[in-house]
Amino acid sequence: MYLPGHPKYTLYHMVSLTNKRILLGVTGGIAAYKSADVVRRLRDAGAEVRVVMTRAAAEFITPLTMQAVSGHPAHRHLLDAQAESGMGHIELARWADAVLVAPASANFIAKLAQGLADDLLSTLCLASGAALAVAPAMNRQMWDNPATQANLATLQKNGVRIFGPGSGAQACGETGAGRMIDPLELVTLTAAMFETGELDGLDVLVTAGPTWEPIDPVRVITNRSSGKMGYAVAKAAMEAGARVTLISGPTALAPPARVECLRVMTAQEMFDAVQARIAAANIFIGAAAVADYRPAQAAAGKIKKTADTLQLNLVRNPDILASVAARTPAPFVVGFAAETDDLERNAVAKLQAKHADLVAANLVGRPGSGFECDDNRLMLVEADGTVELPLLSKERAARELIHHIAVRYHAKNPAENPRLAHRQ
Ligand code: PMT
Repeated sequence: MYLPGHPKYTLYHMVSLTNKRILLGVTGGIAAYKSADVVRRLRDAGAEVRVVMTRAAAEFITPLTMQAVSGHPAHRHLLDAQAESGMGHIELARWADAVLVAPASANFIAKLAQGLADDLLSTLCLASGAALAVAPAMNRQMWDNPATQANLATLQKNGVRIFGPGSGAQACGETGAGRMIDPLELVTLTAAMFETGELDGLDVLVTAGPTWEPIDPVRVITNRSSGKMGYAVAKAAMEAGARVTLISGPTALAPPARVECLRVMTAQEMFDAVQARIAAANIFIGAAAVADYRPAQAAAGKIKKTADTLQLNLVRNPDILASVAARTPAPFVVGFAAETDDLERNAVAKLQAKHADLVAANLVGRPGSGFECDDNRLMLVEADGTVELPLLSKERAARELIHHIAVRYHAKNPAENPRLAHRQ
């Protein structure tokens, strides 16, 4: 915890990149010496950082320095057998939530505008679907040159964000525009890349994690949900501008910043907490793995190991999602479906049975997606069709889901925000 006046105060209190994967590209220029500080500040804000350096960048700052500050070897070569056997260039491109090139030289900006892929960094920028930003740094004459300005206009048209440059005294002795902006400002702008405003002013209620159904004072019935998917959804909704309430079963996760988190244990407690909050919600997202059954009666004391078999009498828990969808008026209702097989057919059945607007279906019970791990593959099932997302980090899958929900919500409620009703 940093107090006002401490250099890290602003960063910790206003900027969060928790769980974000940032690929920092460093190109050749004197400002490359500041890249180590950019890495440090990004990590201070919670990001995981991988560094890719051009050949020229390594003339200004050593790969060893970048390895020391990022905690990972700096990637430098496109065709490096050793690096490809670890995290290959395509994996690196997929890994990133955002790519920040800082400093970005005039030459690199020109390559990017042309779509060239003649080294690792330019290839990654072309191969990655992640948001891309450049922080130009160059001599003021190079900055003012019409060729550079035309290249920057092309990048902007292609959706690349341009951070800076600042102006002032330059390493070459001249004064003017072309200085790379301050690392702290770069981190703030990088964090803002994740904020979309698509759910501005809306209330979103999210459930996450497992429930615990007591058998006796020391044992519970539960499942393997870690809460990661639901927490990522809550965070993505917050980044989209919503006021978010997260109702969480028992997890080991810290609640996302700027999200109100209520902790519950059982399905009945989750049901009660949702009922208490649902009237204010525009959107309800049920990502929790709620136990369908609970022991009819939890034993008052620890059950002793006497008989060879033990029978538990289970009763149904209330269905939270169905109860929300049955309200009049109902919020926009999004359920999840965790299935071991027949994903789409089961998800369509759940969509219809629970009267949800959308079901995000995922396969569970196999490694690499679903419960506990960091990645997930979602299938978005609605009455008029299905969209399959690729395998993504849960953070990124959540942002895709929230974007999809925002589009559908505004199409269904055009009067609320006509500006967003036709957004795709
Ligand atoms: O938490 P992680 O480790 O990150 O894993 C993520 C996840 C696999 C738990 C998540 O992506 C997911 O699929 N969550 C829903 C799990 C589930 O309970 O699915 P279901 O098919 O049994 O339930 C369908 C829907 O009804 C869900 O939205 C569920 O929240 C809801 N439900 C179920 C039972 C109940 N009594 N009340 C409910 O609201």
